[in-house]
Amino acid sequence: MNAVELIRRKRDGQELAAEDVRAFVRGYTDGAIPDYQAAALLMAIYFRGLGGAELDALTLAMLHSGEVVDLSDLAGAKVDKHSTGGVGDKISLHLAPAVAACGVKVPMISGRGLGHTGGTLDKLEAIPGFSVDLTVERFREVLADCGMALIGQTAKLAPADKKLYALRDVTGTVESIPLIAASIMSKKLAEGIDGLVLDVKVGSGAFMKTAEEARKLAATLVDIGRRAGKKVAALITDMDQPLGRWLGNAVEVQESIEVLSGRGEPDLVELTLALGAEMLRLGGAAETVEEGRDKIAAVLKDGSALERFRRCVELQGGELPVSTRGWFAEDTARVATPQAGFVTRIDAEAVGLSAIALGAGRLRKEDAIDPSTWIWLKKKVGEPVELGEDLAWFSTPRQAGREAPASVASQVTAQLRAAYTVGPERPTPRPLVLETLR
Ligand code: URA
Repeated sequence: MNAVELIRRKRDGQELAAEDVRAFVRGYTDGAIPDYQAAALLMAIYFRGLGGAELDALTLAMLHSGEVVDLSDLAGAKVDKHSTGGVGDKISLHLAPAVAACGVKVPMISGRGLGHTGGTLDKLEAIPGFSVDLTVERFREVLADCGMALIGQTAKLAPADKKLYALRDVTGTVESIPLIAASIMSKKLAEGIDGLVLDVKVGSGAFMKTAEEARKLAATLVDIGRRAGKKVAALITDMDQPLGRWLGNAVEVQESIEVLSGRGEPDLVELTLALGAEMLRLGGAAETVEEGRDKIAAVLKDGSALERFRRCVELQGGELPVSTRGWFAEDTARVATPQAGFVTRIDAEAVGLSAIALGAGRLRKEDAIDPSTWIWLKKKVGEPVELGEDLAWFSTPRQAGREAPASVASQVTAQLRAAYTVGPERPTPRPLVLETLR
């Protein structure tokens, strides 16, 4: 396979042969193909897309770039959830233990932050000692013990996605339906699951900005899963404002623990019930979505989901609670509204980019993350604000190696202020779950 030829062919809109796609994935994973050629091919795919046969070849090549876990000897159904990426999306952290507490095992391979979105792995690593790099053997042991395990791709599990994901993050090639679909499904099919619930996000903070694109991505994901013999459902959910009120890694773990403690922000709780109910239905632990919702609500209230989370954290080497940067006046910047009325819109992508500027995510592959940095959305869509009232607070940056703190702080203040739209009338609330594909 000649990598330059392959790039040219895709650039010119021709179809790639399955064996060439496989050779490319193999070559990139083992280092024979350099980043610059892989980046050029990704950009060509971004513009030209992939046909069905090319997409299957890419997904399977990424899946078989590593080991495929066989969990058939573990009793019970194994069902996972995957989100296409959002802002403030910490749902996996409390959803996995809630579903596990209802008797369905959750073997979860998650990703890091991508583009303007946050990643479950980066949030988990805010828990001191927590390891997301388990061997496959340890992954099985943790899963058998507490009914859930939360890891990242290892050298053994979908390593091609790990490398391509990091490259896409920094080359402007994230927002592509075939690349997102192959990335998600290669990891998920490597986990040894029976069922998968996909949370396909749509809106200002999602990679898919329109319902039509989100539907197309959902259908692509469901088709790949079905062809692989899995039970799959996809929920198209609103990402037109961040989920919850906190952005940042350590603070999002804390916000999840709130949900596990029977409290939590209403949008986080609602999405957990919707996704959890679907997972229980696919896993055979609930006949109907209503029964599933009741079961998830019960384990969030009675502490059993929290107990699962604690056990998982302990088994993966971590220690709760998580420390966050405190509320010190000199450490906190405030963004006030120049207008009174109601919050009608929050540009979630702009909020996600502000969090990255503060050090909660990466601008380059090699960037380190500051787990303690945060943004707090004091106001969300539909809430009233008075003239000069604070819309959001954030931790003033103090990380070395990034731009000078003062300029980052003023950039983030301007970005957050511009992310909010305030109008005279209270907007009609948009439902969180917009559509379900089964
Ligand atoms: N989540 C993934 O795992 N991969 C993508 O490409 C986007 C979201």
